[in-house]
Amino acid sequence: MQRQWILGAVALVATAGTLAFVSAQDPAATSEAAPAAPVAQAPNPQPIQFPHNTHAGTYQIDCQYCHFSAERSVDAGIPPVSTCMGCHTMIPGAQQPQEVAKIREYYDAGESIPWVRIHKVADHVHFPHMRHINAGLACQQCHGQVQEMGVLVEPDEAWGKGKMGWCISCHVEQDVNRDCTVCHY
Ligand code: HEC
Ligand code: HEC
Ligand code: HEC
Ligand code: HEC
Ligand code: HEC
Repeated sequence: MQRQWILGAVALVATAGTLAFVSAQDPAATSEAAPAAPVAQAPNPQPIQFPHNTHAGTYQIDCQYCHFSAERSVDAGIPPVSTCMGCHTMIPGAQQPQEVAKIREYYDAGESIPWVRIHKVADHVHFPHMRHINAGLACQQCHGQVQEMGVLVEPDEAWGKGKMGWCISCHVEQDVNRDCTVCHY
């Protein structure tokens, strides 16, 4: 009985996965999905309405193509304007060309884009991305389903508000070192 239920659940997950894959590939589904995405819900404080769902969802650009230092450094890193220009010289944007046009303005002015930082732990806390990525954790485990999000405004529930209890409970679960000095300078 229980075994059947588990098999059913596995089949369901597999089907949902396939459907998500199909709809991500289907251009018709994409153009329907885009206006409904949170991208449309301005205003928010970001200087450019950068849609994660378009890049990491629809076009399946790898997280680390942009957050290039996550597996080798403490910070995951935010891509420089030149990374954006690498594609947007050719791609003016069919939905929000005015947002794409801002990229060129920053680029021509030689300025970096003043993104508003969303995830931040207290200054006395040490959080090394590379240790977590190299241990096999997915970005989504701490940041939620970013590839389905429009413009990022606040942390997902998955982030645990950057509280000590959140860090500790996963370290207990995964049997990781919990000495005070591991996380505190
Ligand atoms: C095309 C480049 C690009 C890709 C691909 C991309 N991101 Fe981002 N990401 C950005 C930019 C630019 C920002 C800063 C603006 C913002 O916060 O939305 C950002 C911000 C973030 C932030 C918030 C940073 C903060 O301020 O705290 C998280 C978390 C994040 N990305 C995770 C991901 C994950 C997970 C993926 C893959 C599913 C991903 N990103 C794919 C460009 C990208
Ligand atoms: C690997 C290629 C690639 C990179 C790198 C990239 N983009 Fe994009 N971006 C795209 C594609 C493809 C679209 C969808 C364009 C469309 O549907 O017309 C898009 C769409 C957008 C849109 C929405 C515009 C629209 O009309 O859909 C914005 C805003 C945007 N990108 C900003 C950025 C910023 C800012 C960066 C750098 C942090 C960046 N992009 C990096 C490929 C890229
Ligand atoms: C174990 C939890 C965890 C995982 C896994 C994780 N992050 Fe983070 N992320 C955090 C925390 C905590 C912060 C805040 C760090 C700080 O303030 O020093 C953060 C901050 C960020 C930031 C903003 C500042 C920076 O580091 O540049 C980005 C971007 C980001 N994460 C992207 C990613 C991406 C992309 C992945 C997957 C490759 C990922 N994160 C995996 C917990 C995580
Ligand atoms: C979802 C699970 C998870 C969460 C949440 C998490 N960690 Fe970790 N942490 C790990 C794993 C797994 C390792 C890797 C241990 C290894 O390298 O074998 C690790 C390693 C570390 C290390 C390196 C430990 C050492 O022995 O040097 C530090 C420092 C750390 N985490 C800090 C934090 C902080 C600070 C937070 C909260 C802001 C946090 N972690 C949240 C799972 C997590
Ligand atoms: C796995 C990482 C981790 C470990 C291990 C850890 N802490 Fe923390 N600690 C944090 C984080 C993250 C915060 C920031 C919480 C916040 O900003 O709300 C914090 C905050 C604190 C604070 C400030 C008060 C507060 O709640 O914000 C104190 C004091 C503290 N920790 C003491 C300790 C002591 C003592 C130990 C060892 C018994 C310890 N911590 C072990 C991650 C850790």
